[in-house]
Amino acid sequence: MALVRSSAAAAALRALNGSCSLIGGLPRSSNALRIRCFSSLMSPPSTAVVYDQHGAPDAVTRVMEMPPVPVKESDVCVKMLASPINPSDVNRIEGVYPVRPEVPAVGGYEGVGEVYSTGAAVKDLSPGDLVIPSPPSSGMWQTYVVKDQSMWHKIDKDSPIEYAATITVNPLTALRMLEDFVSMKAGDSVVQNGATSIVGQCIIQIAKSRDIRSVNIIRDRAGSDEASEMLKKLGADEVFTESQLEVKNVKSLLGNVSEPALGFNCVGGNAASLVMKFLRQGGAMVTYGGMSKKPITVSTSSFIFKDLSLRGFWLQKWMVSDKAIECRQMIDYLLDLAQEGKLKYEMELVPFSNFKLALDKAMGKLGSHPKQVLKF
Ligand SMILES: NC(=O)c1ccc[n+]([C@@H]2O[C@H](COP(=O)([O-])OP(=O)(O)OC[C@H]3O[C@@H](n4cnc5c(N)ncnc54)[C@H](OP(=O)(O)O)[C@@H]3O)[C@@H](O)[C@H]2O)c1
Repeated sequence: MALVRSSAAAAALRALNGSCSLIGGLPRSSNALRIRCFSSLMSPPSTAVVYDQHGAPDAVTRVMEMPPVPVKESDVCVKMLASPINPSDVNRIEGVYPVRPEVPAVGGYEGVGEVYSTGAAVKDLSPGDLVIPSPPSSGMWQTYVVKDQSMWHKIDKDSPIEYAATITVNPLTALRMLEDFVSMKAGDSVVQNGATSIVGQCIIQIAKSRDIRSVNIIRDRAGSDEASEMLKKLGADEVFTESQLEVKNVKSLLGNVSEPALGFNCVGGNAASLVMKFLRQGGAMVTYGGMSKKPITVSTSSFIFKDLSLRGFWLQKWMVSDKAIECRQMIDYLLDLAQEGKLKYEMELVPFSNFKLALDKAMGKLGSHPKQVLKF
């Protein structure tokens, strides 16, 4: 792993130096220049993925050594264990995500770690506890993270690390979108594109656990047959590639699945039009991703004759502070499902030293790959 020193390290050093002061009133006699730091407790040095400017993530990110930082009274220093590379992490680095940290910044927004040390005022967390940032928080792609105790949620020590690292952003989105838009009952159905995404895989399983059927659209690509099989094993009722839906009446392919009242759009472009074609009169399509970077085109008849509703969902907006407790309860619920084997999704754990390769895979440069999860 290339270790690069840059202005971010210098800034961190400046911040660190700024937290120390000379002891007031002491004569600066002899050779002893006595220095007192505000906090005697410091984090270990951290290895981090840093970007100094926005741009193409493979061009602007650097893996570098960060100096120790103070662990203040109510801070908790966490030794990170794992953190995924999500599409929104890429967008934050690119500078196209609506809310993003100021540069220089450390990448990553969710993850899991073990408490390493705590400030003097921390009572509810102890070294060794397994914690996740909740709500998620920037700066997770590094070996040690120091944040206020309120930022950390203690989870079951036996939680599988890769699920704990990824449980918030995507599974919680799937859960909320299934519950917040259309009231569903057993026997109802949903339709979605981007079904191989983690959100898509979670939608299939959570829907199945409620006897809700799922119609799934995936893109045409090498390995689409295997992807279709994988989704069916998770509980997908129907899986179609986009090209299989080039028929006059897509609903003729529904078999004994009811016409969906709710659709999820992860992709845009043609894949969004296909979701709308499956929806029944008065149905709603919720857009939560734009993986194809293509706009959504809606026919006039979809509005006049089908009265479709087009909605949107953004987890970051949903997780306003008054949802903090609720949000943690949902995360515990989802983690329990994962621990019981009732919620699964494809992931590839990658050593942190292979960050650049993982980034290339996450950005689709090397074809389709499971979710890349950095292991520190
Ligand atoms: N709005 C929110 O609050 C919210 C929350 C969570 C996630 N999201 C969004 O949800 C989407 C999925 O996230 P994720 O982490 O679940 O995904 P993921 O597991 O990283 O998987 C990426 C998905 O995108 C598909 N894909 C990649 N490039 C594509 C392209 N050019 N055209 C069509 N499909 C493409 C992949 O299909 P293949 O399998 O065929 O490669 C795969 O299904 C992202 O856009 C993410 O930003 C939004």
